[in-house]
Amino acid sequence: MENRPQWGTRAGFILAAIGSAVGLGNIWRFPATAYDNGGGAFFIPYLFALITAGIPLLIMEFTIGHKYRGSAPLSFARMNKKAEWLGWWQVAISFVIATYYAVIIAWALSYTIFSLNQKWGNDTVGFLVGDYLQVADPGVFGGIVPGVFIPLVIVWIITLGVLVKGIKKGIEVANRIMIPALVILFLIIVIRAVTLDGAAAGLDAFFKPDWSQIASPKVWVAAYGQIFFSLSIAFAIMVTYSSYLPKKTDITNNAFITGLANSSVELLAGIGVFAALGFMAANAGVPVDEVVKGGVLLAFAVFPEIINQFPAFNGFFGSLFFICLTLAGLSSLISIVETFVSGVEDKFKVSRTKSVMIGGGLAAIISILFATKGGLNFLDAADYFINQFGVALAGLVEVIIVAWVFKELKNLQAHANSMSDIQVGTWWRISLGIITPIVLGYMMIQNIITNIKDNYEGYPTSFLLYSGWAVAVAAIIIGFIFAAFKWQKGSLTLPEQKGVSK
Ligand code: ALA
Repeated sequence: MENRPQWGTRAGFILAAIGSAVGLGNIWRFPATAYDNGGGAFFIPYLFALITAGIPLLIMEFTIGHKYRGSAPLSFARMNKKAEWLGWWQVAISFVIATYYAVIIAWALSYTIFSLNQKWGNDTVGFLVGDYLQVADPGVFGGIVPGVFIPLVIVWIITLGVLVKGIKKGIEVANRIMIPALVILFLIIVIRAVTLDGAAAGLDAFFKPDWSQIASPKVWVAAYGQIFFSLSIAFAIMVTYSSYLPKKTDITNNAFITGLANSSVELLAGIGVFAALGFMAANAGVPVDEVVKGGVLLAFAVFPEIINQFPAFNGFFGSLFFICLTLAGLSSLISIVETFVSGVEDKFKVSRTKSVMIGGGLAAIISILFATKGGLNFLDAADYFINQFGVALAGLVEVIIVAWVFKELKNLQAHANSMSDIQVGTWWRISLGIITPIVLGYMMIQNIITNIKDNYEGYPTSFLLYSGWAVAVAAIIIGFIFAAFKWQKGSLTLPEQKGVSK
């Protein structure tokens, strides 16, 4: 019999999975990505990706984790030794994400305090890039920014502290506190946002499809990248989390609850942010698209401006928003770091404390790079490339490998169905085996060509080469390197667990 730790309760697992899924991706990234990719037009690829890839992949990852009961590298290796590198590649992607994700949470912590007296003043962009981040030119490090470094240390202490305590006493307990708090606070903000003057115009801008954007491969890859990032799939998280499930659990039901909860929060975030943008546009007497900014600036420059203009309780609503961002971020960061903690523990048979200190500690040290004056540019490039050519590409490779190379879909389907009330049928195999590889595959190739021709955000080529492309490629190489290490004897054999179909 095995001694792998387990979640204390089913609710504990679901809360942790939702905690992982609902994160900066929903609140910080989604509205900006939707805006950058055609506003309302983004909905069509987004919904398509959610239904044909997001939920099916979530079911698949829950099934893989539950069936093979290991971190992503161990689970994939148990499925087929030749698939192990995929697990490590995804773990490496998580590692990269953890290093900059923690920094954004650190900003959110700072902004929670700044909100109290709207320290950012009237020029919110100037405050963010000048006073707070002290942004240097692309490629220049320019020294550590203490205002980012100090909250970053706090973020890492909390995250690693929770992880050291383990699955049940650490991750499960943390999510039981953070997720209900997040839901309540977030609802208060969204309800306030949609009741602001001008909210309707903002929502109109958000939901109105701009058909001209729909043919762009960039928009489609962004939609898949967003869905995968937001659902925490294709970067080792959900395989890891579901490996701690007890032998009896309803896999598909868990996946639907997690997926729907995540998309609801994402939609709510979009509604809240765009309603607030509508309010801001109405105040300025201009159309919504003139007040909005994409990318990193949306949450940390545009939102503070909205807070400035709030009719009442500015400090309260401002800090509420950034507390939400912090809570959502922390519960996700914990899951992101858990992927490599668990991978190292499984492969090198070290204690949990050691693997938290080695894996988490290394990520914490590297994250300081993003707390420098050049951090924002590095972060922007790393986030873009690791999503488009990390997460989205790893999702594509994952479905191709599982469906076509190792032909595992039918086995996984049987395993999921043997555990679940909702049975997955042929649609699930068609979505994963045919639709996703064709649509995402085509869009991916087009998108790679576009990115080779045109530099992302007009950054210098040399900068993009080492801070974007190289990061995405390094994750793949690291996948192969870690897969080359030998497992200890017997590690790949699935331990006895009564009552589980193999
Ligand atoms: N799923 C997490 C997020 O949305 C990573 O931020």
